[in-house]
Amino acid sequence: MKIAIVGGTGDQGLGLALRFAKAGEKVIIGSRDVKKAHNAVNLVKNMLNEDINNISAATNEDAADSGDIILLTVPLQAQMATLRSIKDHLEGKILVDATVPLESCIGGTPVRFVHLWEGSAVERTAEFLKGKNVVVISAFNNISAASLTNIESDVECDCLISGDDEEAKKVVIQLSEKIPGVRAINCGGLENARIVEKITPLLINLNIRNKIKLAGIRITGL
Ligand SMILES: NC(=O)c1ccc[n+]([C@@H]2O[C@H](COP(=O)([O-])OP(=O)(O)OC[C@H]3O[C@@H](n4cnc5c(N)ncnc54)[C@H](OP(=O)(O)O)[C@@H]3O)[C@@H](O)[C@H]2O)c1
Repeated sequence: MKIAIVGGTGDQGLGLALRFAKAGEKVIIGSRDVKKAHNAVNLVKNMLNEDINNISAATNEDAADSGDIILLTVPLQAQMATLRSIKDHLEGKILVDATVPLESCIGGTPVRFVHLWEGSAVERTAEFLKGKNVVVISAFNNISAASLTNIESDVECDCLISGDDEEAKKVVIQLSEKIPGVRAINCGGLENARIVEKITPLLINLNIRNKIKLAGIRITGL
C-alpha cells in the first residue's frame, strides 16, 4: 500500500512520513513544490540515518495519483485550495484528513477552536468531495508532530478515528498502529470528529501551560 502525504513537507506530514517510512511502508511526500518535497525526503532519510528507498517526492497531484491512501496534512486555510488541486486524483481511494480548525489559522490563538458550518474540518472535506468515489476518514488530529519526530521514543497517544465506512476505518486503524505506541480507537461516524478535533487545542494549551511538546490523549477502560 502506498501512502501519499499531501502537504507532507510540514511538521505533521513529515512526522507521519518518518514513522511510516521507518515501519517499512511506501511513502510519497507531496508538496506544491516538488523541490520542497525532495528536501523533505532527504530530511526523513537523514533523520532515520538510513539509505532507504521506500520514500519518494512528488507534487501533491502526482502523490495523490500514485497513493492508495492519501493523508491530508495542511492547515485549515489551505484545506480547500489543496483539495481543489487533488480532487481529480482521488478516485476509489481513502482520504484521511488530519486538519484541525485552530483559531491560529485565522490569525488567532492555537488554543482555540474555530467553528465550521459543516461541523468539523473533516466533514468540510467530505462535503467538498460529495458525489466522488472517495472515502473520507478522520485521524491523526491529536498526535503531535513533536511526538512523531521524536523518533527514538514511542508515541504516547491514541489515534481517534472517525468515519462512515467500516472497511476504510479498518485500513486506517492498521496503518496508524504501525507507529510504535499508538493505539487506534474506532470512534464511530464521521460526525464524531467534531469532538476529536476539539481535543487538539486543549492538548496545545496543556503543552504551553506545562512547557512541554508531547501532550497526548489515552482513552482508558476499553
Ligand atoms: N503540527 C502538529 O503537531 C499537528 C498535530 C495534529 C494535527 N495537526 C494538523 O495537521 C495539519 C498540518 O499541520 P502542520 O503543522 O504540518 O502544518 P504546516 O506545517 O503549517 O503546513 C503543512 C504544509 O501545508 C502546505 N501549506 C501551508 N500553507 C499553505 C497554503 N496557504 N496553501 C497551500 N498549502 C499550504 C505546505 O506545504 P507545501 O508548501 O510543501 O505545499 C506546508 O508544508 C493542520 O491542519 C494541523 O492542525 C498538526
